[in-house]
Amino acid sequence: MKPKVYVTRIIPEMGLDILREVADIKVWQDELPPPREILLKEVENVDGLVSLLTDKIDAELFDRAKRLKIVSNYAVGFDNIDLDEATKRGIMATNTPGVLTETTADLAFILLMSTARRIVEADKFVRAGKWKTWGPMLMLGQDVYGAKLGLIGLGRIGYAVAKRAKGFDMDVMYYDMFRNEKAEQELGLKFVELEQLLKESDFVSIHVPLTPETKHLINEKTLGFMKKTAILVNTARGPVVDEKALYEALVSNKIAGAGLDVMDPEPPNMDNPLLKLDNVIILPHIASASIATRTKMAVMAAENCVAGLKGEVPPNLLNKQVLDKMKK
Ligand SMILES: NC(=O)c1ccc[n+]([C@@H]2O[C@H](COP(=O)([O-])OP(=O)(O)OC[C@H]3O[C@@H](n4cnc5c(N)ncnc54)[C@H](O)[C@@H]3O)[C@@H](O)[C@H]2O)c1
Repeated sequence: MKPKVYVTRIIPEMGLDILREVADIKVWQDELPPPREILLKEVENVDGLVSLLTDKIDAELFDRAKRLKIVSNYAVGFDNIDLDEATKRGIMATNTPGVLTETTADLAFILLMSTARRIVEADKFVRAGKWKTWGPMLMLGQDVYGAKLGLIGLGRIGYAVAKRAKGFDMDVMYYDMFRNEKAEQELGLKFVELEQLLKESDFVSIHVPLTPETKHLINEKTLGFMKKTAILVNTARGPVVDEKALYEALVSNKIAGAGLDVMDPEPPNMDNPLLKLDNVIILPHIASASIATRTKMAVMAAENCVAGLKGEVPPNLLNKQVLDKMKK
């Protein structure tokens, strides 16, 4: 009997093929995530689960999933999984680090530049028939070249954004819970405390995971440190930013703009006032959305899952303590 795997959304075929070689797989076919009750029912009889960041993988789910050996998350972020609860039950959890780093850094830089130079607003302006002539005061934005960039989090993606920034002769500083002297030397980065970073940066880009410590790290107080001309970019997770405080900071001209790939909640309610602001760009969580990268993520998620099903240590195991408790 082949093991059973449930995949909570259609992912690139190359990943599904790898899973099919060793397992009987069932793939949720809808555009929207499986409703909670369906997910809880489906996990009752599976050995492996390929989950997305939209699936809450918690104690309630683990209690129903008596056979589950591995949860393979199709994302580098894993704030949707309760790792402690997985470990308690001897269930492995994995993610897809590295393969999406450059694609996500590209999008962070795209958002930074598009917000600085009002690209979305300018495009809408043309389509609305408002372009009358070359205007000396038309759509003036901010220079990216030579500006000061503050990175909150200098992990894989933060570092990749710093590399891009060096090409624009930006002066890059970072704040992280760990200092990275190697990166400082390689790219000429400056390690600073969060307050200093916020006070000095023209652009602030967030690259920390969502944890209890980073939830609302950007709030009324920390936004208050930022320059009036500064732009905030968030490609990490929505709840790292207190959106109400961000809205207040934008409408009271405490900061100049924001580029957001992530929101809290996702999608935002259509009455979210941020949607009405011209100096905010909002994208539907697409930072890793290139064909090549999503394919690599599917392969990596599938390989993690297969390793777990075979009782091997998956390449991207998140809860290493589980190895002592693994189910036979
Ligand atoms: N928008 C998207 O589609 C998308 C795509 C990829 C990743 N992400 C998000 O980006 C995050 C970062 O990814 P990564 O691969 O660079 O992760 P990473 O683990 O390599 O880097 C995270 C960095 O944040 C630092 N950090 C963690 N907690 C901190 C804290 N409390 N204070 C200061 N620094 C802290 C870590 O030390 C590390 O250097 C992911 O966790 C994910 O949530 C989003």
